[in-house]
Amino acid sequence: MESSKRKKLIQGPVGIAQSGHREYVGGFWDRLGNLQYRFMLSAGLRPEHKLLDIGCGPLRAGRHFIEYLNRGCYFGIDKEPELIRLGIEEELDPAIRKAKQPTMIALSNFEFDRLPSKPDFALAQSVFTHLTPDDIHLCLANLRRVIADEGVFYATFTECNGAMANPRVSHSRLLFRYTRSEMIEMGNCACWAVDYLGKWNHPRGQRMLRFTPMRTNK
Ligand SMILES: C[S@@+](CC[C@H](N)C(=O)[O-])C[C@H]1O[C@@H](n2cnc3c(N)ncnc32)[C@H](O)[C@@H]1O
Repeated sequence: MESSKRKKLIQGPVGIAQSGHREYVGGFWDRLGNLQYRFMLSAGLRPEHKLLDIGCGPLRAGRHFIEYLNRGCYFGIDKEPELIRLGIEEELDPAIRKAKQPTMIALSNFEFDRLPSKPDFALAQSVFTHLTPDDIHLCLANLRRVIADEGVFYATFTECNGAMANPRVSHSRLLFRYTRSEMIEMGNCACWAVDYLGKWNHPRGQRMLRFTPMRTNK
């Protein structure tokens, strides 16, 4: 029983082939794609804004954003090139790809300096739920350096009431839980002001945070 459970938790190309790309990122394909799209519109995303979709996977939400945004305004990054390939080949209308010219790059260490321009908005939906504090910090610190001055970053997390013993290494199939104050502290350490937005209708109860660049007095 235990070993058959573990088999389902393989990450990377083998895990993707075993479960299929939609299940690999957690299922709820249409529901979570639409939820992210509607959330970002309500947060002020407009067609002319540049959006960075961190951990975009096979474009569950990305396909909606690409269709909505102006040409060249969508940037998606993920550590799994296979998820990006499947998203492009199986989920994205080729005519929309041609018209909108999205940028999708495989990056595993949040090297956002490789983006073609500064994002106005960034989103990490169900990404911090799979990362250690060190990796969350790396993402936050690197994003802080490239986001537009008035940029806004939204990220979800799985909230717990007391500090949890999470896995020691980041893993895309394992769940990491954090307290609200742990998340706020990680943001502040990377020079972000953090607002807890809480529930946003996520089917698994993930909570939403808003990060805005902390102003420093020079
Ligand atoms: C649960 S899925 C969510 C995918 C997408 N955000 C969505 O909501 O459809 C988590 C994604 O984060 C990606 N990921 C995990 N660690 C990452 C890292 N260090 N850098 C970039 N992507 C990462 C995984 O490959 C996977 O596509």
